[in-house]
Amino acid sequence: MTKTVLHPDAQLYVRVLENIDRAVIALDQQGNITLFNPAAQSYTGLSEKQSLGRSFEKLFAGQDNFLYLTRMAISEGRSISDHENLLLHRPSASPLAVSVSVSPIFSENGNPDGAVLILRDLSRVQALEEAIRRADRLSMLGTLAAGLAHEIKNPLGGIKGATQLLAMELPEDSNLKEYTEVMIKEVERVNGIIEELMDLARPRPPELSEVNLAKVLGDIVLFQKEAHRGKDIEFVLRLDPSIPPIRGDENLLTRLFLNLIKNAGEAIEKSGKVEIISKVASDYHLNQPGGRPVPLIVVEIRDTGRGIPKDDLEQIFTPFYTTKSRGSGLGLATCQKIVSEHKGFLKISSTPGEGASFAVSLPLFRKSQDSPQKS
Ligand SMILES: Nc1ncnc2c1ncn2[C@@H]1O[C@H](COP(=O)(O)OP(=O)(O)O)[C@@H](O)[C@H]1O
Ligand SMILES: [Mg+2]
Repeated sequence: MTKTVLHPDAQLYVRVLENIDRAVIALDQQGNITLFNPAAQSYTGLSEKQSLGRSFEKLFAGQDNFLYLTRMAISEGRSISDHENLLLHRPSASPLAVSVSVSPIFSENGNPDGAVLILRDLSRVQALEEAIRRADRLSMLGTLAAGLAHEIKNPLGGIKGATQLLAMELPEDSNLKEYTEVMIKEVERVNGIIEELMDLARPRPPELSEVNLAKVLGDIVLFQKEAHRGKDIEFVLRLDPSIPPIRGDENLLTRLFLNLIKNAGEAIEKSGKVEIISKVASDYHLNQPGGRPVPLIVVEIRDTGRGIPKDDLEQIFTPFYTTKSRGSGLGLATCQKIVSEHKGFLKISSTPGEGASFAVSLPLFRKSQDSPQKS
């Protein structure tokens, strides 16, 4: 900001503007930028030098929403508050969801003297809201499932036992045996779903150990190659050898990656590729209150399958949501839970018709002191 010596009050204003996490942009009556605080610079990717003294209309050309709001403030002296969900387009980054308030500025003698825009970054709020929605759905399901699962498991056991007895009563060459086999297989399938559901609902603390991800992923791939033998799928492992063992629950992490790799294989109809890539995320850390920042590792599972339509992205984590005739719809809900328990994030991107990518970021906890459960 300015280098002249300021009145103590003014210095305070400057400090507030420099530290506030909202973008503050002031314009004079001609629409030229007179103030562009550090948050404004980081939101827009424009430096103070690129913006100060320049015309707002030129700098934000094409962004009609912003231009409209500032024109209203400057020409009509109207203030417009909290316009939600505008997209701020940026030259070298993806658009940012923001809320905007614009107020006219008046000079000491009450004449209009420009306007000030205040922008708030909504992307983190939106990500958080989405995570809460997912967690809510899961906890509601938990109560329901815990009650239902027991009720269903017992009679299922009865049906299976009775069917086995029936099968034994049938003569060795009876063609009715085919039916009892189907009954047993289907009972076992339902039982599997119930167990998956109970796992999802049951609050079980993770059992922590040092997990060698390369080994876990390698084993899963061997197993999945076998499971998809009927199709022409190339499985490729590209693992960063520098990733040390991570602290986590080996069973849960195995389930997580198995579900994702299984989905990837299932998304491929006849032939395609499933890539599993692990790396250390150099640009992100998990900040813990009172602790050292923890590096993150990313395991991405990328397939060339059918992809996920944009409208379905919201749905796929909902328990029982499935587009497969024999799917349970519990896989991704379980994945979400396991990732949260390990204090990680799950990011999805997909181009329908071309494939999908599921990226799991996990904090690389090493010592037992900063284990995933503690926060
Ligand atoms: N890699 C993927 N490619 C395309 N669609 C996917 C992929 N992974 C998940 N999906 C979609 O998400 C739905 C839910 O997945 P999931 O919870 O694992 O249940 P299920 O596999 O039993 O259907 C799937 O039915 C499918 O429509
Ligand atoms: Mg699945």
